[in-house]
Amino acid sequence: LSHKITILIGTMTGTAEMVAEDMKEAVEADSDYQVILKPMDDLDAGVFDDDGLFIICTSTYGQGDVPDNARQFLEDLQDKKPDLSAVRFGLFGLGDDTYADTFNHGGLTLEKVLRELGAVRLGEPCFHNASGSQTAEDQGVEWVRGWLNEIKNQEQNT
Ligand SMILES: Cc1cc2nc3c(=O)[nH]c(=O)nc-3n(C[C@H](O)[C@H](O)[C@H](O)COP(=O)(O)O)c2cc1C
Repeated sequence: LSHKITILIGTMTGTAEMVAEDMKEAVEADSDYQVILKPMDDLDAGVFDDDGLFIICTSTYGQGDVPDNARQFLEDLQDKKPDLSAVRFGLFGLGDDTYADTFNHGGLTLEKVLRELGAVRLGEPCFHNASGSQTAEDQGVEWVRGWLNEIKNQEQNT
């Protein structure tokens, strides 16, 4: 397995991007994984041809929609329906539970589409709540450390 993680960032006001930057710093300090950050703007399904692991790091807007910068990417996946059975990803969503009916639906939509195309989610997803007490950056770093440890343990056992 190549020790590379690509974080795909869906954001409207930049929080998810700050989270991804902090995840990169934490992972690269703790491990030999290289982390690449890719805002979802201008991405298409071809991004999944890269090897290594992926993290979907996205907020939710509108009525449970993906952020504007993720819209084209989502449509491209839904149109082209690529075979993503080699893809392994983790999910970190950013939302706000004052939007009770659509809490983190943007991340959940991306997850659903990826899984329908054969991709496998690794570990538990994490859903940040902007109305909660922890910052998205702190929760993101805590989550990614646990997520990567779980993956490393699985690698050792196979
Ligand atoms: C206009 C607007 C609509 C939102 N809609 C939702 C929503 O439907 N569900 C949800 O969980 N969060 C929703 N949020 C909360 C954002 O996802 C949350 O604040 C997030 O941290 C923003 O991250 P970003 O700066 O990366 O875009 C909404 C926020 C705004 C400003």
